Parts: sequence; structure tokens; C-alpha cells
Amino acid sequence: MCGIIGYCGHRPAVPLIVEGLHRLEYRGYDSSGVCFVQNGELKVVRAEGKLKLLEDKLARMEVSLATTGIGHTRWATHGAPTEDNAHPHRSSEGDLAIVHNGIFENYLECKRDLQDKGFSFSSQTDTEVLANLIADECRSAASLLEAFANALKKARGSYSVAMLSPREPNVVYAARHSCPLILGVGAGENFVASDIPAFLPYTREVVFLEDGEIARITPTSWEVFSLLDRAPLEKKTTRIEWDMQAAQKGGYKHFMLKEIFEQPQSISDCMSGRADFVNFSVNIAELEGMEKPARLRLIACGTSYHAGLWAQSLLEGLAGIPAVAEIASEFRYRNVPLEPGEVVLIISQSGETADTMAALRIAKEKGAKTIGICNVVGSSIAREADTVIFTQAGPEISVASTKAMAAQMTVLLLMALHWSKDEHPRREELRRILTGLADIPAALRDILPALQSEASKLAARFASCRGMFFLGRGQSYPLALEGALKVKELSYIHAEGYAAGEMKHGPIALIEPDFPSFVLLPNDGLYDKTRSNLEEVAARKGPIVALTCAGKSGPDIKGCETWLLPEAYGPLNSFLMLPALQLFSYEAAAFLGKDVDQPRNLAKSVTVE
Ligand code: F6R
Repeated sequence: MCGIIGYCGHRPAVPLIVEGLHRLEYRGYDSSGVCFVQNGELKVVRAEGKLKLLEDKLARMEVSLATTGIGHTRWATHGAPTEDNAHPHRSSEGDLAIVHNGIFENYLECKRDLQDKGFSFSSQTDTEVLANLIADECRSAASLLEAFANALKKARGSYSVAMLSPREPNVVYAARHSCPLILGVGAGENFVASDIPAFLPYTREVVFLEDGEIARITPTSWEVFSLLDRAPLEKKTTRIEWDMQAAQKGGYKHFMLKEIFEQPQSISDCMSGRADFVNFSVNIAELEGMEKPARLRLIACGTSYHAGLWAQSLLEGLAGIPAVAEIASEFRYRNVPLEPGEVVLIISQSGETADTMAALRIAKEKGAKTIGICNVVGSSIAREADTVIFTQAGPEISVASTKAMAAQMTVLLLMALHWSKDEHPRREELRRILTGLADIPAALRDILPALQSEASKLAARFASCRGMFFLGRGQSYPLALEGALKVKELSYIHAEGYAAGEMKHGPIALIEPDFPSFVLLPNDGLYDKTRSNLEEVAARKGPIVALTCAGKSGPDIKGCETWLLPEAYGPLNSFLMLPALQLFSYEAAAFLGKDVDQPRNLAKSVTVE
């Protein structure tokens, strides 16, 4: 994780870098720092904690003369989140400084060598080792570029890194391997950053760097070289069409709330050009010409994995394709035999998640066709998958993923329908689902305010409980997992998502009066089965909240209260239940005074293993 930014131009670099870091904070926020050259001297300012603390320090300093600099917002991997471990890190002689996102795997071995050569270290980080490795290479290399490249060739692992040195005070060097890095090309100024919003107020022209590439920017030029032999590479700029408005809070208290309320739009945008509600057909252009897969393996992490698990039964039931959903960090270390004709679906909002990325590469090595389902255009997964289908949900800033999951579910449902169209017995089903899907954005828009007020009442009642269950069967089981994940990550309350039928095999022992169960109870073929599980919970005096659309009174079980939702057709109920769960977790966190958009210990984009 971590966010990095570098700037060379005509404006005061420090405030611009700090502003960019604010837009990268979703990538990590346990410490931060900047480095700039002023009066020929390399200055480094760092602070433990939120960016505000760095700003307070900078406010007491004269920093306005520097027009070149680098900055970093950290999510700790090596060493505690202290000021000493914060980036930028200087080489021990102070002749250069770097910021780094990723993990330098062989840093201990390199550190020992460097110590033998007289280099000293003041932090526990792998990054400081890399800074000294570059400084060591400077002793024999003909140029900074050569030293930078030679050091990076010795580093194993993943990185995006930016470097500044008073030897070339108006230049920033940067490189990437398995972590995102993008160049921003402006007029009289150039940028590098982990993500586009960092520099979007200044330019929309970007260059996506690939693994094994080095960039050198000055105020008036940008060049890209191969890491291997430093040969110059031809790169094209791409114009970014979305703007900062899409990445602002727009009157909502938190990004998470804004993004929950954006779900109707995200679902519409995701269907646009793919679903034809007049002729009842689905056509995903990206899948045109591709044979229906013999098997599907859906691989992802966290919330994206829940979307994949949700889609598994739809791909089986609607399209008749055997499908299995897998956690990327597990898949990558099993030697999974992939069958001929098996297609691997890689699901990732950011398109940069390290485990998911590794799974994609393994699947490709094994000869499987890969389809990426991504939200971020230009992301690594989007570029490396054989085919990419964008979810079109717009930028997701809140660390907790919400609208991206609704969009992933929409794409996956449309894919199931796309592959089901030759199945004549399923034509009527396709028509009913599409008719229902067309109404989902409007239905959601109508109910979101009421869902929020109900969620807020329930949060006030249950936020101080010892723990809670989220239960569901079939299509509702992945949603139960997601409900529990959201409560854990945002409010730090222990929550478990469980298949309702599994409760009696152990977890039911936890049930007592201050251990509530939120039960997903759509009016589907599993209604009676789940209802019986509720009886078992009620018999043990566990409070129950049933999210249901069945009847006005709900399951009519003593001690069970109903959170009534409008009814949608079949799997579409999930689109109404998901925001209810998201809003409950949001309200519980807000009630407990937690930092909703930046929960502790987390980061938006998990680019480390
Ligand atoms: C939870 C959350 C994470 C992500 C996971 C995968 O709210 O956001 O669980 O879903 O880190 O991220 P992507 O989808 O970017 O690969």
C-alpha cells in the first residue's frame, strides 16, 4: 500500500504534494512525509499519524521556495508507524531520498552488505535499505539514472518508488514493479503518483508506467526508460475523462455514505450499453466472439470475493457453467490444476490488489483465458487480463468498498445472462430478471433514505453489543459475509457472517441476549429453511433482526423484529439488502465515533501480500 507523489514544475512543490497526499490517503494514513530541495539542500519533513500532523509541522517552516519534491503517505509493512520509519528515507550520507510503495523482499541481505560497507541505518524499513543501495551504486555509476536502475535490479519484490537528489535538483526519478505508478504530463510541470487523483487538478494527460520501466521527469520534459538496459521507450499519453467532482464528497459527511447513495447510478452506468430492456437481451461487447466457458473460476479478495461468491450460483443456475469462487491469497499458493476451457474471472475494484494480481499471473501461466472485472481504468489487472470488463462505478475513495460491489454484482449478473441467452428454457427467466433489473436503480433511490434512518436506529441499539451474527442462505450467504466484514472493518465490533444452516454446528453457542443476529430472509425458495434457523436462535434468547420482504409482519417469531424491504425478483433482492447492511455498518461506526472513511489498520488498495 502507501501513496507516493513526485512533482517538478513552477509551483511551490510542498503544498501541492501535501494536497496530492490528501487524495492518496486512502492508500495508507499511519504516517507521512515530504522531501524537497531548497537552497541546494535536501530537506525531509515527516510525521507520525494523520497528514494533519505533517501539515502542522510544515506550517512552522519556510518551504515555499522548493518547486521539486516527493511525498508519501504510509501504510506500515516493515517497522511500526513511527516518525523514524516514515518516508521519505535518506541515504546515510544524505545525498538522495526516496519514497516507496511495496515490499523489498531481500532487504535484510542487502542491509548486511551495506552495513559491511559502512552505511548506517536509522529506521527498521526496507525503504531505507533501498535508498542506501542506490547511494552505493552512485559510487560507481556514471549517472543517477544508472545508479537508480542498477540498485532496482538488485531489489526483489514489489515497488513503486520516486527519488530526489540535490545532484539533479529539478529532476524526479521514478520506477515501478508490481505497484501502480502513473505520470501526469502538464504544461511546465510534470508529476508521478500512485493514483491519478493526486494530480488531477493540474492535468488530465497521463502515462501509465509498466513493470520494469523508469521515468525521469523535469518541469519541461518526461522520459521513460527500460530498467533492464536504460533504453528510451516510446510511451503514449492517455486523456482522463472523469474529473475531481467525481472524487469529492459532494455534501455527504463521508465518502462511504456518498458512495452508498451513488449505487443507483453505478448500477445504471454499469448496465448502460450492455442490457437492452426493450428487446430483453444482454450483450457484453467485451465477450463477443468468445465461446461460452466450460468452467469458471472467480478469484478475488475481501468484498470483491463476496461479489464473486454471490455470482457463483447465478453462473451455474442461469448460464449452466460450473463455477467456483476462490480467495486469491489461497489460490496463489495451491497448485490448482486448471481444466481445458476453464476461464478465470479476476475481480478487483482497484485492479492493484497484490494477491489478486498474482492469481491472475498464475492463471495466465497455466494457460487459462483470463477476464478482469475492474473499476479502475489503466490499473495493472485491467492491463494484464486477456479481456477486461469495467464496472463503471466511478472513483471509489472510501476505504470500505460499497458501490464497487453493487457494480461487480451487476456485471456478473449480466455475464450470467449473456452466457444464458442460447439456453431456451431460460429465456423467460432472462426476461423477468431484466425487467426487474431495470427497476432496481429507481427502487434503490426511493428506499435509501429510509434504509439509512432504520440503520441508524438499529445501530444505536446494537453498536455496544459484544458481537453479532449475519446469517443467510444461498444468494444471501455472501451478503451475510459482507455485512459482517463491513461491521468489523468500520466499527471494530466482532461480527461473523455465517451460512444460516451451519449455525447449529457450533456457532449457536455464542447466542445470548446481547449477541444479535441479522438475518437475510428474502422471499425465496430457502425462506422456510432460514426461518427454522431463526427459531433456533430465538429459542436461545438471541435478539434477531430479519431483513425481509416477505409479508408485512416478517417471520412472526417471538423476539424477532423485521426490517422490511420492498420485494424484487429472485437474485435482485440482493441489490436492496446490500445497502441496508452497508448503512448499518456505516451508522454503527458513526455512532461509536470511528473514522468511517479511514478505519484503523486498513488501506484502500492492498498492493502488498
Ligand atoms: C472491504 C474492502 C476490501 C477490498 C479488498 C479487495 O470493504 O474494501 O475487502 O474489497 O481489499 O480490493 P480490490 O477489490 O480493490 O481488489
